[in-house]
Amino acid sequence: MPLSLAVLLSGRGSNFAAIHDAIERGVLDARITAVISNRPGAPGIERARQWGYPAHVVDHKQFADRAAHEVEVLRLLAAADPHVIALAGYMRLLSADFVARYPHRIVNIHPSLLPSFPGVDAQAQAVAYGVKVSGCTVHFVDEHLDAGPIIVQRALEVRDDDTGETLAARILVEEHIAYVDALVKLSRGRFRVDGRRVVFE
Ligand code: GAR
Repeated sequence: MPLSLAVLLSGRGSNFAAIHDAIERGVLDARITAVISNRPGAPGIERARQWGYPAHVVDHKQFADRAAHEVEVLRLLAAADPHVIALAGYMRLLSADFVARYPHRIVNIHPSLLPSFPGVDAQAQAVAYGVKVSGCTVHFVDEHLDAGPIIVQRALEVRDDDTGETLAARILVEEHIAYVDALVKLSRGRFRVDGRRVVFE
């Protein structure tokens, strides 16, 4: 059975596009049942419409608070009934209540080798810190920021002349590979989470 997938995004949507491409190429056996953006003008939601996916905008600015916004996102997710929710540049924190509804079923991609450099501008943080290696992490989402059990990481060298932007561009190439790899692994269904460790069987 294909993995049923919902994608949450806020912006460009290149990770979403990589997931879409992998499905089209037959690399990833999945079906996208909803794409949800919290930003009305997000290029990612435009792509979703063009590709014919059920696309929804739930503009957080139209809601009184985080909880009210999440109620609407959860309503759409309940209707789409995904097995896995993929955060693809979704720049909103999920509440503990939200996360608890989908234990080990929400995944996120972050542009650093976690636990280094959580939060915003991870690539610029890495350059400023002077690390020689960085990369990206696909992980399960828990109630803490960029902190859940790690599914896949990919590493690359930081160059002496890197800026946040040049490093981000090279990391992004790795992100697209890592996200597809993680979802392919999850789609096979044979894994367990042992404390912080995700073990594929
Ligand atoms: C990606 O670099 C992703 O890792 C990052 O936002 C970008 C979204 O790009 N996410 C975070 O920083 C989350 N903390 P995309 O919209 O082209 O996929």
